[in-house]
Amino acid sequence: MDLQISNKTAIVCASSKGLGKACAIALAKEGVNVIVNGRNADTLALAVQEIEKVATANVQGVVADITTEEGRQALLAPCSTPDILVNNAGGPPPGDFREWDVEQWNQAVNANMLTPIMLIKATVDSMMEKGFGRIVNITSATVKAPIPSLGLSNGARAGLTGFIAGLARQVASRGVTINGILPGPFETDRLKTTMESRANAAGISIEEQMVKGRQLNPSGRFGDPQELGELCAFLCSVHTGYLTGQNIVVDGGSYPGTL
Ligand SMILES: NC(=O)c1ccc[n+]([C@@H]2O[C@H](COP(=O)([O-])OP(=O)(O)OC[C@H]3O[C@@H](n4cnc5c(N)ncnc54)[C@H](OP(=O)(O)O)[C@@H]3O)[C@@H](O)[C@H]2O)c1
Repeated sequence: MDLQISNKTAIVCASSKGLGKACAIALAKEGVNVIVNGRNADTLALAVQEIEKVATANVQGVVADITTEEGRQALLAPCSTPDILVNNAGGPPPGDFREWDVEQWNQAVNANMLTPIMLIKATVDSMMEKGFGRIVNITSATVKAPIPSLGLSNGARAGLTGFIAGLARQVASRGVTINGILPGPFETDRLKTTMESRANAAGISIEEQMVKGRQLNPSGRFGDPQELGELCAFLCSVHTGYLTGQNIVVDGGSYPGTL
């Protein structure tokens, strides 16, 4: 299928590794100019090289902390009027809510709720003027099925999802769609961190925890980031103009509900 987005420009936040990088790769393969981002310059340079190998358009890396106003301005500097915005950031640490003070809650809400909202605020009006815009927020399956130890993530991402539910309906008539991708477990560095914490709590090795995690999933495996990247590219295509305000769980069937 031709996604018909070649020569459009995408900002993909937090994309030097993992799910963000997979989204950037899938978009770059479709001929989208991609602006990719991370805080570590070396990791980002490697990601740019990797994406350039499959890209048919321009790939640019911006070293920036997306959770700061300075970082967001740096990311918007190469293109303040992107056609596509993929919001992503590092996830908050797991733990017990009794350990989290106001500062930790502020950090989680800033990274996983306010940062995407600020980037949408900076870009959505120009998308509406052009009559085309695609915004995808990478959140988590925990928005729909909370994991108690990921309370910071459950709370902050649910806040973003609630806000987007209203905003998506305000911009739909102007050709702009906003959707959420809610990943279950995908094979990335972040997954290793969450598996490590669960392994420690259960008193087993991380390898044992990984085996257990795969067995617990109806698909018998963890997700491949490429699968999420391709979904993201489809959501950014011209074919999804009537699909907005939705939250798509990609978890190998873990979420047990009928709807
Ligand atoms: N993988 C899963 O199974 C899974 C499941 C549900 C939800 N999620 C969520 O999806 C998001 C991505 O996860 P992932 O698995 O792809 O993580 P990952 O493999 O650890 O990659 C995270 C990426 O984000 C960048 N990053 C982190 N904080 C940043 C910041 N403040 N500013 C700019 N870039 C930043 C990292 O680069 P630098 O460190 O160099 O900045 C890296 O490129 C996270 O919020 C995670 O909680 C993941």
